[in-house]
Amino acid sequence: MKTLIFATNNKHKIHEVRQLLEGVVEIKSLDEMGLAGDIPETSDTLQGNALQKAQWIWDRTHTDCFADDTGLEVEALDGRPGVYSARYAGEHCSFDDNVDKMLREMEGKTNRNACFRTVVCLMEGGAPRYFEGRVDGQILTERYGKEGFGYDPIFMPDRFAVSFAEMPLEVKNRISHRGKAVAKLVEYLKDINK
Ligand code: IMP
Repeated sequence: MKTLIFATNNKHKIHEVRQLLEGVVEIKSLDEMGLAGDIPETSDTLQGNALQKAQWIWDRTHTDCFADDTGLEVEALDGRPGVYSARYAGEHCSFDDNVDKMLREMEGKTNRNACFRTVVCLMEGGAPRYFEGRVDGQILTERYGKEGFGYDPIFMPDRFAVSFAEMPLEVKNRISHRGKAVAKLVEYLKDINK
């Protein structure tokens, strides 16, 4: 089976993506590859950041790899925080800080439409290829659930009555931004392995 390095230090993402790629490719985390350090993500687009992260790994290992970058776009905030979702509450802020700030900024707002968008960059032999996924939903008025990570407790996807943090991972993976982008990656990898 083909091996790909997943360019992230986020253990939740590794857990999610391992489940999605089971039986298709073997995933190595940065820890398992002995790669340390902060991967830069200084672009102002999701695609740019996904490329930057994948390129960083490729330059150091010359091994096929992929990276993802995700943004939460909120209609009432003119699409913010978008590509800046990780640092929404400031440099080195926690998931909780970001959620607190979102709940504060959304206080009293009736339009709570939002979407998560993910771009995955696969780096094969040094050439990038992109896969995108999106899920629409609503920003809740308080936290619900303990699963997942990031903004999951305050995001309720359309056609569901629970937040991402109240869902089993299999359900989130079926409908989520990252799940959809990785499903496209899986289709591509299966095609080239035929
Ligand atoms: P990045 O892709 O790690 O740069 O993600 C940007 C921000 O979005 C981080 O604060 C993440 O916690 C958050 N985020 C990414 N994916 C998800 C998700 O699946 N659920 C909730 N928050 C997420």
